[in-house]
Amino acid sequence: MKIMSVVGARPQFVKLAPIAAAATEAGHEHIIVHTGQHYDPMLSDVFFRDLGIPEPDAHLGVGSGSHGVQTGAILAQMDEVLERFTPDCVLVYGDTNSTLAAAVSAVKLHYPVAHLEAGLRSFNRAMPEEHNRVLTDHAADLCLAPTEVAMGHLANEGLADTSVLVGDVMTDVLFQVRDAVQADGTANPVADIDAPNGYYLATIHRAENTDDPERLREVVAALAAADRPVVLLAHPRVRAKAEEHGISLTTGSLIVRDPLAYPQLIAAALGSSGVVTDSGGLQKEAFLLRVPCTTVRFQTEWVETIELGWNVLANTTDEITAALTRPAPAATDAAPYGDGFAAARAITEIATRIGTRS
Ligand code: UD1
Repeated sequence: MKIMSVVGARPQFVKLAPIAAAATEAGHEHIIVHTGQHYDPMLSDVFFRDLGIPEPDAHLGVGSGSHGVQTGAILAQMDEVLERFTPDCVLVYGDTNSTLAAAVSAVKLHYPVAHLEAGLRSFNRAMPEEHNRVLTDHAADLCLAPTEVAMGHLANEGLADTSVLVGDVMTDVLFQVRDAVQADGTANPVADIDAPNGYYLATIHRAENTDDPERLREVVAALAAADRPVVLLAHPRVRAKAEEHGISLTTGSLIVRDPLAYPQLIAAALGSSGVVTDSGGLQKEAFLLRVPCTTVRFQTEWVETIELGWNVLANTTDEITAALTRPAPAATDAAPYGDGFAAARAITEIATRIGTRS
């Protein structure tokens, strides 16, 4: 069958890698549409290169904008792309504006939609991602859930019949990249910093942490007060907002670096004493690498990382300081994010549930 993946932002490229490989392996035609939501080479091109993803078949080049402008620009272009490729299934990923726009355009033209990473909920309606994921799940013909918890949320919303547990495709990529990093000795790109007692690796990019100056100021102050260097891999959004509000990102323990390519990110996380983040993906990656994580948010969709003791939600300076210096979590062999074969399962489910429709 002909499967069209629509992606646009950094974490979607990571998830696309195992899906592209699994679709090809299963003998399907796989079309890749890049919306252009992320366009900086370090947020886009390096993922295609390092993860061996084929070049996109179509690139919409929408760029940045307000939610309406960005979502609308994708919608406006997708009709033509869908009619040009006539896919048997449109596969959308996660919870970005690209996800929602692709899902809406596909259902309007009666193309079946499958949603990868379905069923995640923060129950925080102030998050743009929460609207995107709820609306996409309800538009989709098939919800591919990463966890049992996600399956429960889908069932609670009346979506049990269109939902199936496949595991988390990020686990597929992470295990492959971790093994490659360890086998080929990929250099830790932040090993050059002066950190005799180790360092923390940080990423902060979410709107709720960056767009309110008081909030950003508090998060930066907390990181600056850490007991060892904090390497902040600065997404363009946090750099821009800090500059706009006159907040220095190079105070106290903070060291600012550019975002890293995926293998380098994994090497840097593996070499760290802990991760501090508001990224969904990095919380899970830290858990899978068994690196303690501190999450600068009030909720997380990845509740398993908290329940197993490897992740802590922390927002004030005191909470962040306490979380960073907490004792090491208890070892666990729990595998709530699957076995590393979620992509193959997702492709099989798409083929059997959507590919066999007349
Ligand atoms: C988006 C997703 C978020 C995801 C994140 C991954 C939405 C609503 N949010 O957030 O869920 O976790 O991607 O990184 O879809 N910018 C650049 N270069 C780029 C892209 C963006 O400089 O290549 C800057 C622009 O100033 C832009 C801002 O970052 O306005 C925000 O970009 P956008 O794609 O709207 O949201 P993200 O914060 O990246």
